[in-house]
Formats: sequence, structure tokens, C-alpha cells
Amino acid sequence: MTETAPRRLLPLLTGRHGGSRSALTCRFRCGDACFHDVPNTSGGEYFGDVAARAFSRRTALKAGAVVAAAGAATTVLGQQPALAAPGNQGNAGKAGAAPGLNFEPVAPNTDDKLTTPAGYLQDVVIRWGDKLFSDAPDFDAANLTAAAQRRQFGYNCDYLGLLPLKGQHEFLLVANHEYTDEVLMFAGYDAENPTREQVEVAWAAHGLSVVAVTSGRRGKRSGALDPIVDHRLNRRFDTHSAFELTGPVAGTDLVKTPADPSGRTVLGTLNNCSGGLTPWDTWLTAEENFNQYFANAASVTDPVVKERLRRYGMTGGATERKWERFDDRFDLLKAPNEANRFGWIVEVDPYDPTSTPKKRTALGRFKHEAATTRITADGRLAVYMGDDERFDYFYKFVSTDKVGTGDNRDLLDHGTLYVAKFTGNSPAAEITGDGTLPSDGAFDGAGEWIPLVTSRGSEAISHVPGMSGVEVLLFTRQAGDAVGATKMDRPEDVEPNPVTGVVYVALTNNTRRLPGQADEANPRANNKHGHVLEVAEARNDAGAGSFAWRVFLLAGDPNDPSTYFAGFDKSQVSPISCPDNVAFDKRGNLWISTDGNALGSNDGLFAVAVDGEFRGQVKQFLTVPVHAETCGPWIDDDRVLVCVQHPGEGDGSTFENPTSHWPDGGTSVPRPSVAVTWRADGKKIGH
Ligand code: FEO
Ligand code: CA
Ligand code: CA
Ligand code: CA
Repeated sequence: MTETAPRRLLPLLTGRHGGSRSALTCRFRCGDACFHDVPNTSGGEYFGDVAARAFSRRTALKAGAVVAAAGAATTVLGQQPALAAPGNQGNAGKAGAAPGLNFEPVAPNTDDKLTTPAGYLQDVVIRWGDKLFSDAPDFDAANLTAAAQRRQFGYNCDYLGLLPLKGQHEFLLVANHEYTDEVLMFAGYDAENPTREQVEVAWAAHGLSVVAVTSGRRGKRSGALDPIVDHRLNRRFDTHSAFELTGPVAGTDLVKTPADPSGRTVLGTLNNCSGGLTPWDTWLTAEENFNQYFANAASVTDPVVKERLRRYGMTGGATERKWERFDDRFDLLKAPNEANRFGWIVEVDPYDPTSTPKKRTALGRFKHEAATTRITADGRLAVYMGDDERFDYFYKFVSTDKVGTGDNRDLLDHGTLYVAKFTGNSPAAEITGDGTLPSDGAFDGAGEWIPLVTSRGSEAISHVPGMSGVEVLLFTRQAGDAVGATKMDRPEDVEPNPVTGVVYVALTNNTRRLPGQADEANPRANNKHGHVLEVAEARNDAGAGSFAWRVFLLAGDPNDPSTYFAGFDKSQVSPISCPDNVAFDKRGNLWISTDGNALGSNDGLFAVAVDGEFRGQVKQFLTVPVHAETCGPWIDDDRVLVCVQHPGEGDGSTFENPTSHWPDGGTSVPRPSVAVTWRADGKKIGH
């Protein structure tokens, strides 16, 4: 094999927004968020401003003290190769690969297929429209019905998890269906006049799927997985399924609606992006860009309500999908509190087919990207969460109670929600906004977790002056504003390294950050390609109140001097842009999927060692088809799974003339799908 990743620079695709996403993605995914004003207009200083004035030896010592206190975690951060000037690393020409990452990198490309490394096979596990139940009709792209869609795999899968079911061959696959692309789903779609049937199909295509899969039908060496139709645990949740609000916000006035005067039962979960699993094998699914489904914020007159809506990106009239025409709860003038019932982390028990999923209000309300967990030193649960919006925040919830051996039914209703504040240890004058490393050789520093609210079942104790506990949970962004949390470059997925405990935060991009707003944790202005941070909790305890942090990766083309690959030789890494979902393999290698590659190639999945001599050697493992996003990566010894989300979601792409025909080929419509790849020789991934 070769260790030299291809360096071919591809021509930038035209007509893509923000240098990356297509207009269609912007429109359907997040309601054109990039074209609207940044919702965070809080007056909190960018910490670079503060550091410029306040940096002193005392600050440096304090940061150093936190690093020292981090114990084992500090050791991990200290294991990186000696930092050198970008482009002049000491590991040039290094041969070999990190353990578990021994594969030939895939070249950047714009092919309409899933491209995997040499020696790997691939298959589709389940596609949009595939049946979970035998009473569903076969998928018929020209004749979609809501009744069929409610029994079939939904659209635009994002998070995926694989839970154990039977030995090494049967698993429970859980997947989010984040949103719908109506122009790719319906012939002659008229965005100004969607029909009731089209809207009902979209309602049914949103939500979640639980589906049993088996590897038992293809022979021993195959990593392929097939859905088990009619398995007793198969479930679909859509926009009309019942969800229970739990925790302090449940039953309060701000979540009561005309249809639910109890304020406890919500129909549906919307825009579920990524997620995570708990130690007791439930699934946490994250409601993200929920704001785009709620109409007529522009006509709301109460200034307090209007400001709360604005801070969450609700400022307009009619919505893109016009659901408000068919159900009053999507009209803020008719059901002013309905939007308060979305934007939560939802806990699903996929092993109990009769369970009602719970929206856990103690974890706060924002545009939740994901929720990943780690046990604290004393046995409680920490949940890490990003709010995916430019200049929004990074959060942690720590449970009050220890994780038990039972179902931990109420564990996530009791605990404290924190928001992160990052402080750099270099003079602000050295944070130039162009990615140049400061004189200490690293973008790094210390941080603290600022407590926002402590939940005790139905009670919430606020730690934010001027806001009640319930208000902090409901309007968590404003609480973060009030305490001076650090404005980040779109915090997406977060993942603790199972080997070291160091937490990795993907920051997808932020082209709105101006040069004067660069800070050490978000060190590039006009950050087109995003970055990855590592966070080492004090004493390596997920329950700690402080942490050390360091920039691990500044993404982009390695020829771009603003990029940084943890000090690794940039002639030996794959170009990478817009890190989004992250996952770890058992060895502690980081796998990164991308959303909106701004380098002109299709999106992909990358793997990189975070420790040892190959730390920072980013290698591309696969690319997804045209105009698709790589989501949900799941990596185990035998297979790698990804969600191929929104294939064909490019400018001008329509049901009649889509830009992708994956996976069915020919003239077929593209179908978002879960795909799997494994080694043809039956050996372990990357060995
Ligand atoms: Fe749904 Fe933040 O990506
Ligand atoms: Ca520094
Ligand atoms: Ca995402
Ligand atoms: Ca993840």
C-alpha cells in the first residue's frame, strides 16, 4: 500500500453556497440559515478581545495549572509530536500507518457512487422507501403515499447506531430521518402550492426508524447486513407519533398548546440530526433545525416572545414546506408554544416496542446536533452536546445520580447543564485569523464549564441571574449569552475517545467569523473548512468543572497554509473539509464524516490517529455519491457503516432530472440510504 494520499485539487463546483453546501441543502436542511442574520447577537466579547487585554503570566500560569490538574488527560494531550512550523514537520516521508488504519486512501472525486478503499466490498443496507413491515407496498417513486411511508424507511437518514441483538450476526439499527427534499421526492413539485398528500408524505418521511438487521444471509465472510422485515422491534416514528416531555419543563405553561393542554405529549420529532447511545442501550436523538417548520414569527408582536423566537432563528412568515396550511400547530400565531416542544434531546428505548420516547428537557433546548456520553469518575453520566449554529455554544449535562444497573428511567431528568467557556493561552495579537500558529506552537488553553441550571425531576434551579430554571432550559441560548459562553464555529458532533477519555468536538465551519473575531479556539476568520478541538477534562473526569483544550485539526486542502494536521507532515494527508459527525473505533482512532466539502470533491469519511507517531495523518476512507453528505459513521471490527444523506441535492436537481441516481442507477431517483463496507478477505477493518 502507499502512504501518500492523493493531493489532486479538483475544480470547485459552481453555484454552491458558502463555498460548500448546495442551495437545495440550505433550503431544505436548515431553512436557509446561512442567508439569515446570525441569531447570536449577544454582547459577550469574543474571547480573543479579552485575551488581547488580559493575557498575562498569571493567565498562563492558571491555564498551566488546569493542564497540570488534568493528570492522565494532560499526558494524552502531551503525547502529540513536537510541534513545528506548519509544512515543516519532523515526520516527512514516514512510512506505514497507525494501527487499525492500514488502508489505501480514496482519492477525492465527484463520482456518483460510494467509493471505498481497494480490497473493500460494499452494499446498501436499507434505502428510503424500503419496507420495515410486510404490509407496506414496494417503493414506488412515482406514487408515494403517507400510508406507505409510515411503514417504510424514512428520508435523509443521518445518525445511525447499531445495537446488539443476537450474537455477532443480528443487530438493531437505529436511524434518524432528519428532513425531506420535496423537489427530489415529487414529480413537478410546486413549492408555493404543495398538496396535502405531499405534506403528509413528508410528515411520514421525517422522524426515526428502528429496524433489525442480520448478517446471516450472505455467508461468513460478508459484512453485508439485511433488514429483517416484521421483526418485533421494528418501529417507525414520524411527525404524528407520541413523545413525552419529561423533566422540569414538562407540564409548564410555555409548552401547553390548544391540542395538548397538559403540556406533556408532543406529536413528532423534527430535524433529528445526529445522536448517541447511553450505557444502558437507549438512543439519544437530537432535534436540530426545528425552527424552519414554524410559520409567522414575523407577525408575533410580544417583544419578549419575538426575541426568544429570533434567537432560535424564527423570524419569517410562511415556511418552506407550508405545513402551517395543513396543521395549525405549525403556525406560531395559532399555537404559540408548539415550537417550544421541539429542540430537545429525545431518549428512545429501542428494545421496548411499546415505549414512548422521552424529550428530556433537563438537557436544554437548542439546535441539538448530537448527544454523546461518558461516565464520570464517580459513576454519573456526562452528556456532551453541540448547538449547530454559527457562534453558538458547546454544552455538557452531568447527571445527579450514578448510572445504575437497571433502566435508569429518570437519570436524565436530574442533573446540571453547563456551557463551555474557552480561554486561550497565547496573546491575542498572535491569533491572526489566518491559521498561523502562535509562538507557543499551539492553539490551546484552558476552559471552564459554567453551570446554567440544575434539574431535580419537575424542579429546576437556575444559576443564571434574571432567568428562571424553566426559562434556562427552554431558552438555553439566551442563558449561554448571559454567562458569556464562547461563540464557536458551529459545534456539531462531539465524541469522547473510549481509550483516552479526551473529548473531540467537530466545528463544521463559519464563514461569518471576521478577522477581528478569531480567537484561539476558533482561530480562523472566514473559516470555510472547519476544525476539530480536543478537550481534556480536569483529572480526566467527565464530571470536572474545568478542562484543557487544543486545536487538533484545521481542515482544508493541505496546500492551504491555514490548515493544520496536528503537526503531521501535510504532504501525507488527505484533504478534508467541513468535519461534521465523529466516531471512534475501538483502538481510539477518530473517524470524521464531512458535510459540504468546500474543496470541490464529494463528501466523505476520513480516519485519523489521535495519538502516537501517526497522530494527525488524516486518510480518506470513502466518498459518497454526488451531492450527498456522509453521516452517522459507525465503525466496528468487521464493518464500517455510513448514512448517505441527500444524494442528488444539488442546484437545479429535480425529481425529473436529479444530479444523482444512487443507489439504484439508470434514470432512478436518488434514495438516501444506509451503506456498509467491509474487507473482501474477511479480515478486520484497517488491519
Ligand atoms: Fe444536521 Fe448540524 O447537521
Ligand atoms: Ca497557545
Ligand atoms: Ca450533522
Ligand atoms: Ca458521533
